[in-house]
Amino acid sequence: MMEKVIVHEVGLRDGLQNQSKHVHTDSKLEILSALIASGIKSIEVTSFVSPKAVPQMSDAKELYQSLPKKPGLHFEALVPNLKGYERATESGAKTIALVLASTDTMNRKNINMSLDEALKVNLDVIRRANNEGIRARCYISTALHCPFENYVNPIEVLKIADKLDTAGADELVIADTTGGGNPQQVDELFKALVISHEPKKLAGHFHDTRGMGLLLAWVALQHGVRKFDSSIGGLGGCPFAPGATGNLATEDLVFMLNQSGYETGIDIVKVRNAVKVAQGYVDQKLGGNIVGWLDTQKSL
Ligand code: COA
Ligand code: ZN
Repeated sequence: MMEKVIVHEVGLRDGLQNQSKHVHTDSKLEILSALIASGIKSIEVTSFVSPKAVPQMSDAKELYQSLPKKPGLHFEALVPNLKGYERATESGAKTIALVLASTDTMNRKNINMSLDEALKVNLDVIRRANNEGIRARCYISTALHCPFENYVNPIEVLKIADKLDTAGADELVIADTTGGGNPQQVDELFKALVISHEPKKLAGHFHDTRGMGLLLAWVALQHGVRKFDSSIGGLGGCPFAPGATGNLATEDLVFMLNQSGYETGIDIVKVRNAVKVAQGYVDQKLGGNIVGWLDTQKSL
């Protein structure tokens, strides 16, 4: 039997948050429909953050309440603090994604908290989520490279992972927010992570800024990780991490996994259609490396 890998689509949040051109709720729902039509079932749709910090996510409640109710679909929303948690759960979120950067400066730039303050907020929200039956997916962002402090000590990342896990995190997502990581680092970090955390609890979120995204996912896959974030057409970047471009393109990740004998349940041609839909709403040129080749395949 083929092994399953979950491709978790983050374009609507991680991608759109960085777009200057406003994307209307209806357009987000149209992109979402195209994603679902391709077989994608796990989707981070928005974030309940300050609308002043990220205006593109100011429709989070409206969007969340308009999500399709089809069984088998899994939606989640990013929250930076307790207020975000309350807004998300009141809007119907059953899974929240928390974000904690591995360095002090990145936390200050992203959520206006020190690393210690942010850690405390994360642990409080995780415990509350556990008590209320809400799944807590925990990002450790800038886990391989920080745009402000540059070097990230892997020991600190491991310590943060332990604290989040002990508090009750359902999932630990290792995020290369800037795309500044390299395969050797990922190999060493995941080798250490799987000693104390089950691989099924781990996920990878690799930006493709320097063309390493797919390779980093492949290395983590070799350590038993079976869930990866990606973004349609490579959409996005992080408004608070200078120089970061989009996440690993969903179509590239799906192609690699399907070709390598893993089961994603996702149809690459239909992902291509979803990229076209998303392209209609953003100025950024979309498309992973595989798109050029796909477009030459007349039979597909
Ligand atoms: N959702 C909506 N509004 C929020 C909020 C949330 N989760 N958290 C705080 N606010 C509001 C407060 O109510 C307050 O509103 P007011 O000015 O009308 O009184 C205002 O934001 C400031 O609140 P404060 O607690 O002082 O927050 P801050 O200014 O220190 O900002 C964050 C902290 C976390 C809210 C803000 O930095 C943020 O939203 N960052 C998100 C970053 C992001 O999305 N990064 C990309 C994803 S990793
Ligand atoms: Zn990201």
